[in-house]
Amino acid sequence: MKLHFDLDADEAYQTWREKKLSSYPFDLSTRMITIDQVEKITDKIVEKIQSDCLETNMAFYRFNNIPKNDKRCVHELGKRVGLRRLDNNLCADDDHLTSLCVTKHKGQHDYIPYTNKRLSWHTDGYYNKPDEQIHGILLHCSTPAIKGGESLLLDHEILYILLRDENPDWIKALQKPDAMTIPPNILDGKEIRPARTGPVFSFTKEGDLHMRYSARLKNIEWAEDADTQAAARFIQALWENEDSPYILRYTLQAGEGVVCNNVLHRRTDFEDSEQVGKKRLLYRGRYFDRVGSYS
Ligand SMILES: [Fe+2]
Repeated sequence: MKLHFDLDADEAYQTWREKKLSSYPFDLSTRMITIDQVEKITDKIVEKIQSDCLETNMAFYRFNNIPKNDKRCVHELGKRVGLRRLDNNLCADDDHLTSLCVTKHKGQHDYIPYTNKRLSWHTDGYYNKPDEQIHGILLHCSTPAIKGGESLLLDHEILYILLRDENPDWIKALQKPDAMTIPPNILDGKEIRPARTGPVFSFTKEGDLHMRYSARLKNIEWAEDADTQAAARFIQALWENEDSPYILRYTLQAGEGVVCNNVLHRRTDFEDSEQVGKKRLLYRGRYFDRVGSYS
């Protein structure tokens, strides 16, 4: 792990913490990176996305000229910023991107992402195998909802700071290999994914922080020790008011998207258009890479 994540390295932590917090709150309108078209993803744009992600683990972009239902921008942009190894999850399309819209997939039961309901706070792939954790996400809006469908995001490194400042023992507890268990996924009596137990906080081989988390109260089993339980309650309390200055709210518009290092996020419920072709549609890529990994 990087030195500032070492609980014994307080000085390094304080220096990193101060720098990190100084990036917040930020005004999204000043950070929106405009890209003219897919063929014009310049090195300067790539560098800006990477430096925004270095600061806050997320970067926002807007394509000026992008046809609807065009996935090229996702593939191209992903590749340019170092997101290359796509996770082919259960409901992904043939090109391994996922079309997020109100639908029914084969092999899908009550997955909330494919409804118009509110999605609670989580990081992506918290139920993945330990060696297939998701480190990067690209979420691109092709068509927004007519109402709602707002995204809320919280840099997981900020949550780390909030927890460590409150009680460093909570960080220790959340790093334990049995901190959080996701029960098996059972469809029509058949187990399609076994239970997954793992830490909430872990580190990549480069020493960056990774987080597995879901705010679902049902079906998440937290380790029973007092520190894990208290940490889970502390996090849950953050979601109750959502008034933290570190929580970013934004409704992606057509052609806009966010690239991130799998930060915490949720979506509000939404109202869909009755018209075919005008229903909310977002493309999502989940990657085993962090932004900039291959730069
Ligand atoms: Fe997600």
